[in-house]
Amino acid sequence: PIRVAILISGRGSNMQALAEAVASEDLPVDICTVLSNRADAAGLDWARARGLPADVLAHRDFASRAAFDAALRARLDALAPDYILLAGFMRVLGADFVRHFEGRIINIHPSLLPAFPGLHTHEQALAQGVQWHGCSVHFVTAVLDHGPIIAQGAIPVLAGDTPDSLAARLLPVEHRIYVQTLRWLAQGRVRLLGDGRVAVADAPHRAWAG
Ligand code: GAR
Repeated sequence: PIRVAILISGRGSNMQALAEAVASEDLPVDICTVLSNRADAAGLDWARARGLPADVLAHRDFASRAAFDAALRARLDALAPDYILLAGFMRVLGADFVRHFEGRIINIHPSLLPAFPGLHTHEQALAQGVQWHGCSVHFVTAVLDHGPIIAQGAIPVLAGDTPDSLAARLLPVEHRIYVQTLRWLAQGRVRLLGDGRVAVADAPHRAWAG
């Protein structure tokens, strides 16, 4: 099995979808930690109740971003994960950290990248007047929300949509494409091409929302 570390900061619904898929589909995946940078993350309780190894590394306990990154790196190195899955992990990871785990850190972002990196993606989509919104699973690089894209899912923007309604309609699509990505990783089908793109062997290029 592949070893994955799942990093969260809050609710952890993507982490739950991943963990439930591992259990219900018997995926060859060992979740070696569910790690939060906040002790109050609701996802931690869910993970503990499921018997998953859940732990806290509080960024507030560190004087600098670099010190937190170094502690996180040491914690993860000790667990030797094949992949580090960011699932609503709301800390930016520094270039040194990203380089150390190059090609092994994956994030889910609530927009159709490269549109709308950063925060408040649903607000950004509505302000821009796009007719399609979505989510992206991508490899993490030193440039925030800009790494090679593994999977995307799309939803139409409807009349009357608000940031909350978009977020709510998008969330199950996020879960679907992150679980699909984990299946592909477990099957060893995801390859990072040298040109900054991703190839998934014997899989459709896109993961549609429908
Ligand atoms: C998700 O919508 C995820 O895409 C987003 O935070 C939410 C976490 O929900 N991530 C980011 O905005 C990353 N910058 P969850 O804790 O229920 O998975």
